[in-house]
Formats: sequence, C-alpha cells, structure tokens
Amino acid sequence: MADSTRELSQAPESTTVVVIGAGPAGMTVANLLQRSGVDCVVLERRTREYVAQRQRAGIVETRAVRMFDSWGLADRVLGGVPHQGILELRVDGEPHLVSDYDGSEGPTARLCPQQMLVQKLTAEYLVNGGDLRFEAADVTLHDVTGDRPTVRYRTADGELRTLTCEFVAGCDGDHGISRTSVPDGTLTPYAFDHGIGWLTVLADAPPPAHPLLAVSPQGFAAHFPRGPYTSRYYLQCPPDDHPDAWPDDRVWDALRTRLGDPALVSGPITDREIFRLRSLVHDPMQYGRLYLVGDAAHIVSPMGGKGMNLALYDADLFARAVRDSVHDQDDTALRTYSERCLRRVWNDQEFSHWMTGMLHDAGDATNSGPFRRGLARARLDRLFTAPGAARAFSELMTGLEFGESAGPPR
Ligand code: APR
Repeated sequence: MADSTRELSQAPESTTVVVIGAGPAGMTVANLLQRSGVDCVVLERRTREYVAQRQRAGIVETRAVRMFDSWGLADRVLGGVPHQGILELRVDGEPHLVSDYDGSEGPTARLCPQQMLVQKLTAEYLVNGGDLRFEAADVTLHDVTGDRPTVRYRTADGELRTLTCEFVAGCDGDHGISRTSVPDGTLTPYAFDHGIGWLTVLADAPPPAHPLLAVSPQGFAAHFPRGPYTSRYYLQCPPDDHPDAWPDDRVWDALRTRLGDPALVSGPITDREIFRLRSLVHDPMQYGRLYLVGDAAHIVSPMGGKGMNLALYDADLFARAVRDSVHDQDDTALRTYSERCLRRVWNDQEFSHWMTGMLHDAGDATNSGPFRRGLARARLDRLFTAPGAARAFSELMTGLEFGESAGPPR
C-alpha cells in the first residue's frame, strides 16, 4: 500500500489519556487510571523485552508501598523482599547502622528492582485489558493547549496513527519528547552538576546484609542488593571517566579498599557504566493538557533512592487528579498538580543533595576541600549521635516526612 494511503488508512482513535512511556511513571499512571475506570493508551517506543530488562533503581520507599497498597495493587506489583529498615554507613571502615524506617504503622519499604516493578505493572495492566503499544515511533503532540490534544505516532510497520484525548501524561523520561514539545521559555529549568561521576556495576555477586554506603579517603563506594544473587555497586570517579578505564580487577580492588572489606566476594560483572551526578527540576510540570510525570520533569541525584519514588508520587497525584476531573467534574487537583508535585520534588532534591555532600565530601578532601570535609564529618557525627537527627533521617528516607499518607482513592 502506498505511503500516502497508509498515512490516511487509520481514522483517528479517541481515548481519555494518552500516556507516553512505559517505565515506572507510565505504567503506574496506566494502572491507576485503569483502576479509576479512566481509559488510556500507553505508547512506548522500545520493545517490551527492552523495557523489561532495563535495570535502574532498587527500592520502593515506604510511602510508595503504602500508595500502591491504598490502590489495592501492592501485592500485585511489588516483588522483591521487605527492606529491614537498616542502612549501613561505613566511615573509614567503621560500620554505623542507621534506621531508615520511622516506626509508623503499615507496610514498609521494599527492595524491589525497578525492572521487576515495571514488569509486574505491565503484566497487571495487560491482564486487565490495558492498551499498551510497544515500538511506537516518532510520537508527536499537537494542540495540547486546546480542549482535545492529538498524539501521532508510527507503528512498528510504519503505519501512521492518530489519537485524540483529553489529557497527555508525559512519562517519557529525561530524553523524551513531551517536555521538549513545550515551547521554549515556558518551563524554567533548575539544574545542578555535583561535579561527581559514579561508575555503576551490576554483578552476580552476593548482596550485602543491608544496603551499604561507604566513605573513604579514596572516595565514595556503595553496595546494594538487587536480588538474592545479584548486587549493584557504585564507585565515585571523575565525571569524565570511562568504563574502559575500569577493568574487573580495578573495580574489585577499589571496592575492597573503599568498603574496607578485603574479603569482599566478587562475581561476573554483567553491566558497567559511568554517569554524572546531576539534579534537574522543571517548573511548572504541566502545560495545557500535558502533564509531566517522573524523570520527564525532574532528575535527582541517586543518593537517597528518590528518583523512581518521585515518579511514583507524581503518577499517584496525576491519576487522582484525572479521576476527579473525569468522574466528579472537579479540576482542582489538575490545576494544582504541578505545585503539589514540586513541593515533594524540592524536598527530595534537598535531602538527596544533603546526603550526596555528606557522603562524598567526608572522604576524599581533594574533591571539595577541607572545610566542606569538616562539615560532612559533622553531619555524620550528628546523624550517628543525635536522636533527633537520626529520626529526621529515617522519616526522610521513608518519604513520610509530610505526615501525609496516600489514603484510599475515593
Ligand atoms: N516515545 C515513546 N516512549 C518514549 C519516548 C518517546 N519519544 N522517549 C522515551 N520513551 C520511553 C522510554 O523508552 C522509557 O521506557 O519512556 C520511558 C521513560 O522511562 P524512565 O526513563 O524510566 O522514566 P520514569 O518512568 O520517569 O522513571 C524514573 O527511571 O530512569 C529511571 O532513575 C530513573 O528510577 C528513575 C525512574
């Protein structure tokens, strides 16, 4: 069939929400809308297999677990194991166990690798008849400031499709098209570069008893569980460093030195990459009927494990707001979506920034100078010895510092 015929072959489809992206944000939005009786179509440019294996974050914080629980989804989508609520901060080889649980009633954080959460969210959405289209290429947005936006894309075999909708959820991450489809100057970016690189390594090696973050004169290192036989490691390095400069022997030597554990058990390394620690916030997180959710709106330093949890927070607020609008003709929550999300975004940015400085400046003084090293050491001392500081830390780690709980959807 000639292209022009193909281009005209499909009449526009109509739905309530078009969700762009099938990562943690997109699949959480899709499931919550489905549970709210709001129809939606998810457009994902990659294959299901590619999305299912993408490994990133590894902890669903207490607040997010309770959010899923309030929607009746926790048992369906949260795999992994309950987090014991203990972190180890190892300073110059000296272990310090700190609690990252605030003692509140209810389900607690889970060590659930991001790809496991996305796989379960996808399966749950599809088993309930959800419309999820993989390999959707060349997605474009039109008329998002009008009453009925249009979304165009090409199917895997090149057919042009058109969807009209009431709302667009931009869940396509930091390199997606949602945010970049907003006219220049509309959103204000707030960016910060920490001047720190992390080599991240995935290996088939025994996980630690507790998530472990280490301060050493040679720099920061960390060891996190990613399943019963898999570990995620981080090593501070120059931001412009290259993974090829880190052969296996160098990785394991650096980890043993910085973790202060000469007997650390190694294993086959299955993934290795270097990224810069950066933070980015876009304000506002909405434009017309386009709502940015998760990494499409903000990037946070991975220090406090808040990246994926912020995406889950945004998704919950967006889904509830759309439900209020569609079922109760109440647009209040939609109008205030951005300001309510940004309150938590900035709170988590501040916490992650504080934690990044504390755990990097306290070690290698060449990175940030002796004065900031002194500040970082004082923060650690206060965290280990002052009950109020320890309590504040555990509240911030749970995500419940605002005292709010998701509460069951109406
Ligand atoms: N069209 C369709 N899909 C797209 C497009 C596009 N133009 N651009 C990106 N996508 C898809 C990506 O393939 C990906 O599956 O959008 C999805 C975005 O997912 P994430 O980048 O994981 O972002 P988000 O869902 O907000 O989750 C944030 O993911 O990257 C981690 O550290 C981050 O833990 C955080 C979490």
